[in-house]
Amino acid sequence: MQLPEHGANPLRLYERLGMEVPDRVRDFSENVNPMGIPEKVRKSWPELLSALPHYPDPEGEPFRSAAAAYHGVPGNRVLAGNGAAELFSVIADRYRGRTALLIHPTFSEYRTTLLSKGAKCTDLVTDPADPEFPEERVLEKMSDADVLYICNPNNPTGVRIPRETIRRLAEHGLRTGCELVIDEAFMDFAGEEHSFIPDLVEFPNAVVVRSMTKMYGIPGIRLGYMIGAEDRIAGHRNAIPHWNVNGIAARIGTFCFDEDEFRQRTVRYCGEQRQQLAVFLEEAGCTVTDSETNYISFRPEKSAGLFGAMLRQGIVLRHSENFHGMDGAWFRVGIKEREKMKILKEALAGWFGEDSYS
Ligand SMILES: Cc1ncc(COP(=O)(O)O)c(C=O)c1O
Repeated sequence: MQLPEHGANPLRLYERLGMEVPDRVRDFSENVNPMGIPEKVRKSWPELLSALPHYPDPEGEPFRSAAAAYHGVPGNRVLAGNGAAELFSVIADRYRGRTALLIHPTFSEYRTTLLSKGAKCTDLVTDPADPEFPEERVLEKMSDADVLYICNPNNPTGVRIPRETIRRLAEHGLRTGCELVIDEAFMDFAGEEHSFIPDLVEFPNAVVVRSMTKMYGIPGIRLGYMIGAEDRIAGHRNAIPHWNVNGIAARIGTFCFDEDEFRQRTVRYCGEQRQQLAVFLEEAGCTVTDSETNYISFRPEKSAGLFGAMLRQGIVLRHSENFHGMDGAWFRVGIKEREKMKILKEALAGWFGEDSYS
């Protein structure tokens, strides 16, 4: 049975497994912001209609300038994308016939896009239970690679790699001819101070990819951007389809950068819930990743049967069948609203054989 590659599509999952869909389905497999979308985005909807009769700006303005201002970089170092997903596809094209180093478990799209563009992948599989970044092993393997992909914080573990570590990798890459693609789709949850973006001026061999999907709860609009050296960005811009960012997305994204209070509230809430869930899972004997994001991964003492048992109760976890190094024994849970977290814990407590939980 081939399970869907990504989370966030519960109905397809039930269909693939030939299971009846329960009356209430609660999807913990997706990891976008449980707070929903910022209020300003909701309220501005009627006004956004004015963008419909016009072609959008070819550079994704006003979004591109807003992203540049948010990070304090010049606009010509920013490329707007139809989600980070589009940018990964364009980036992968650069590595056709070359070798990419991937550190697993990690986001499966790096491999998929690279292979589809004729790149080769070298896989370094690490233990998700070990919070230490395997720096020595990575440095060694970088010598034979043209590019290193890093997901920071990592999906599915939520573990963040220190900025200093990435600087050492980038320095090594300058010496050995290895570029870095740093995916910071979840950096908003960990804190902007950990971003590698300010370091990019010293490291023309690195680019950072960001997504608006996760923090602002807008997967449906498709919006992301990448930041890198000016000539690198110019090269990718030529390869991207014209009008790749639609006019509504470009406006919504611009509002999002102003949402400081929303970001702070989100980070606080996710931190609290993550902490409570981690304690609950650890008390039940699970191994839990040291996440800094809006999701957490855990490995129960006994994994077999848990996924199906939860599905039957309408609780959809993210399976780990296609995460190398997790291979089905781990599960990822997205932080959701309080009520849903309570329901999740009740269901898991039943499975773990406990009759009470805090
Ligand atoms: C680590 C990571 N990077 C990038 C993406 C894609 O983001 P976007 O919705 O901007 O295409 C995802 C989506 O799940 C992700 O998990």
